[in-house]
Amino acid sequence: MTDRTVQPLEVSLTGPQDIFRLITPDLEKVEVELLRLSASSISLVDHISRYLHNSGGKRIRPALLLLCARMCGCHGDDPVRLGSVMELIHTATLVHDDIIDGAQVRRGRSSVNAKWGNEITVLMGDWLYMTAFFMALEERSFQILDLLIDITRKMVEGELVQLERNGRTDITERDHLEMVERKTAHLFAGCARLGGMVAHVSPAEEEALGNYGFNVGMAFQLIDDLLDFTSSEAVLGKPVINDLKEGKLTLPLIYLLERGDPRHTLKLEALLKSSTVTDDDRDEIIGWVHDFGTLERTSRKAIGYAEKAKRSLEGFRDSVYRQALVQVPDFIVSRDR
Ligand code: IPE
Ligand code: IPE
Ligand code: MG
Ligand code: MG
Repeated sequence: MTDRTVQPLEVSLTGPQDIFRLITPDLEKVEVELLRLSASSISLVDHISRYLHNSGGKRIRPALLLLCARMCGCHGDDPVRLGSVMELIHTATLVHDDIIDGAQVRRGRSSVNAKWGNEITVLMGDWLYMTAFFMALEERSFQILDLLIDITRKMVEGELVQLERNGRTDITERDHLEMVERKTAHLFAGCARLGGMVAHVSPAEEEALGNYGFNVGMAFQLIDDLLDFTSSEAVLGKPVINDLKEGKLTLPLIYLLERGDPRHTLKLEALLKSSTVTDDDRDEIIGWVHDFGTLERTSRKAIGYAEKAKRSLEGFRDSVYRQALVQVPDFIVSRDR
C-alpha cells in the first residue's frame, strides 16, 4: 500500500534552486541509476553511454516526475526508477535528433554523432531506447508500458513531421504547435502522469497531472525555440540561430511571415534553402523578430501554457511539492538555458 499522506507545507520556496533542493537526494539516486544503466560489457557502448551521462543535462523530466509523485504521497523509489527511464528516453531522442539535425554540439561538448559518426550514433540511440524499456519492464505494468510506447511513437512522429516540413515557409501556428505536442509535450505529460500512477491516484487526478505536464512541455519547447534567438552558445550549450540553419521555422519566424511582407518571405525562403546564415543575416533576422514583436508574442504564448499548467494543479492538496510544481512553469518561461 502506498502511503498517501502528504508532507505539510513547512518550507518556503523562493526560487528554482529550492524547487530542485526539495528533491536533491532523489535526483542523486537518479544519477546513480543512470550510471548503473550506462554500463555495458561492450566497451564502445559503455564508453559512449558514460560520455552521455557525464555531459549532464537539466534533468527536468525526472524532476517533474519526482515532484508529482511526492505531491501525490508516494515516498518510495518507484519514481526514481521511472524518472531514470524517462531521462533515458529523452537522451535517446536527443541522440537521434542530433543526427537528423547534423548538430555538432550538445550540452556544451561534441555531440555523439560529431565524435563517433552517424552509424554508431543511430545504434547508440536504439540501445538507449531499449535500455529504457528494459528497465521499465521491471515495473511489470502494462499501464506504464502503454504510456511509454504511446509517448515514444508520438515523439518519433513529431520528428518525422518536422523533417517533412524542413525548408518550408508555409507553416502555420497550428501546424507548429501540433508538432511540438508530439515532439515534446507528450513526454512531459507522461512524466507527470507516471508520478501520479506510482501514487495510485484517481483517473481524474491522473488526467489533471497529464494536463499539467503537457502544458509545461509546450511552454518548455516554445522557450527552447525562443532561446535560439535570444541566448548564446556559451549559456545554452548548443548553437544559436540554429533552427533556421537546420531549415526549421519556429514561432518567432512563423509570426513574422504571417505579416505577409515579401521582404521577409523572400529572405527566409533563401536562408532556409541555403542553410548558411551570415552574421549580417543573423543581425537582420534578430532585428525583425524584435521590431515586429514576434519574440514577445512567442513568449506570451509560452506564458499562456504556463498559466494553464498551474491551473491544472488546483485540485491537489497543498504541500511543499505542490508549491514547487506551481513554480516550475514560471521557472521554465523565465529560464535562460
Ligand atoms: C532539449 O531538452 C530538447 C527539447 C525538448 C527542447 P532539454 O533542454 O531538457 O535538454 P537537456 O537534457 O537539459 O540537455
Ligand atoms: C527537441 O527539438 C528534440 C526532441 C524533442 C526530440 P529540438 O531540435 O528543438 O531540440 P534541440 O534544440 O536540438 O535541443
Ligand atoms: Mg535539434
Ligand atoms: Mg531547439
